[in-house]
Amino acid sequence: MSNTGSTGPNTELREMGTLDITDSRTKKTYQSKILQGGVEGDTAVRAMDLRQIKTAPGEFGLMTYDPAFMNTASCKSAITFIDGDKGILRYRGYPIEQLAEKATFLEVAWLLRNGELPTQSEYDGWVHDITYHTYVHENIKTFLQGFRYDAHPMSMLCSAVAAMSSFYPEAKAIHDPEQRNISIVRLLAKLPTLAAFCYRHVKGLPFIYPDNDLSYVENFLSMVARMSESKYEGNPVFVKALEILFILHADHEQNCSTSAVRAVGSSQVDPFSAVAAGVAALYGPLHGGANEQVLRMIKEIEHPNNVAGFIDDVKSGKGARLMGFGHRVYKSYDPRAKIVKQLADEVFKQVGMDKDLEIALKLEEAALNDEYFISRKLYPNVDFYTGLIYRSMAFPTDFFTVLFAVARTAGWLAQWEEMLNDKEQKIARPRQIYVGYGERGYSTKLTNPFPKVGKDSARP
Ligand code: CMC
Repeated sequence: MSNTGSTGPNTELREMGTLDITDSRTKKTYQSKILQGGVEGDTAVRAMDLRQIKTAPGEFGLMTYDPAFMNTASCKSAITFIDGDKGILRYRGYPIEQLAEKATFLEVAWLLRNGELPTQSEYDGWVHDITYHTYVHENIKTFLQGFRYDAHPMSMLCSAVAAMSSFYPEAKAIHDPEQRNISIVRLLAKLPTLAAFCYRHVKGLPFIYPDNDLSYVENFLSMVARMSESKYEGNPVFVKALEILFILHADHEQNCSTSAVRAVGSSQVDPFSAVAAGVAALYGPLHGGANEQVLRMIKEIEHPNNVAGFIDDVKSGKGARLMGFGHRVYKSYDPRAKIVKQLADEVFKQVGMDKDLEIALKLEEAALNDEYFISRKLYPNVDFYTGLIYRSMAFPTDFFTVLFAVARTAGWLAQWEEMLNDKEQKIARPRQIYVGYGERGYSTKLTNPFPKVGKDSARP
């Protein structure tokens, strides 16, 4: 299987004009080029241009201060486009709605990486390679068995992905296109196996090996759910729903976990280690962990009649945030949430409407009509309804983020490779504004620098 690498439109930034900046301290005026990229026309100035602004020759120069990267483009990317105000999401130019309706997850994974939809022969080769690499080394099983029976599957997954780096030391050769390709194939192929093994361990069930007669999604469901039957036959509504959810989760430009993968990958570590960093970032409740929190929140609300009181608590700050609502980039309805809501309708037609869905619908309605949420442009995000779908498919709540991670691996890898091919990228190393003490002399406050702790202080 050859690596076609990233292709696509011209990724050079165009000069659109200049920005004049006058320093009131020196009255000097500086110029910075206004740069524009792509057909959508995002504009920016180079932060490094500010470095020339100083009051004296020896000075470091001006920096930008942007906690949480609210307004900083860390890279150029041709992979995913989001217009947060209009609620638009496109992978390589294709609207998410069309991909969710018509594409397969592996087709989307190819598209994200290579920039174009695969031809039939490219797709056949891609599916073959990924299917061929679904098995994991037997020692991974032993490794996973070392976890406690109640381990969170995201902790297990994160560790297992990191551990894979030790099984493929050749993956360190990230500048060798062949090694890069096989690592990408291995990660996409083995993530469902690792995820399913985490599930089976927590459930105390034997691990089920991949069945390479099945599609990517069916094989995953087989490894999760198969018991004594010789062949797994998935519920077609669930298989289709998961394929769509994987497509919706496959990439989302420079979010927290993708930025983590890029930042860690910029140290030129192998992709298994970089993707493990992505899994760790995704685990957090404000990121991929939100789908799990939505279900816990709905359980806590208990009854549709309690929705109004819950919303009041969110607004007054007495309660937690409304999980599954709000987004750093979307300031209108998350386009993925629209698709997920329709999908939830279809899945619930199969399994029946329940009280939790009723609570979710009531929560959504209450929030969308409430001034607090309207004025802050807080709309449902992708995680609001996904948890309900996953639960109706009998996935345990703490497994939801694992499903997200399996799908997002496609985006992490595409973004990682794009970063490696970007000549402007270097090791990620933000600056800081130091606000601590000035220099001071060391004078210890200790009378005994090596206190004895004693034997009885050891705790498991
Ligand atoms: N419920 C109640 N208030 C909220 C919420 C919420 N879910 N989200 C934001 N706000 C309020 C926040 O209190 C603040 O109000 P004020 O201006 O009065 O202080 C205002 O809205 C702006 O919030 P922010 O924290 O500055 O916004 P942000 O862009 O930093 O945060 C977010 C984005 C996704 C972290 C946040 O909306 C949130 O915590 N949402 C709940 C968690 C969630 O659903 N996360 C999944 C995100 S989508 C999938 C993914 O990326 O993984």
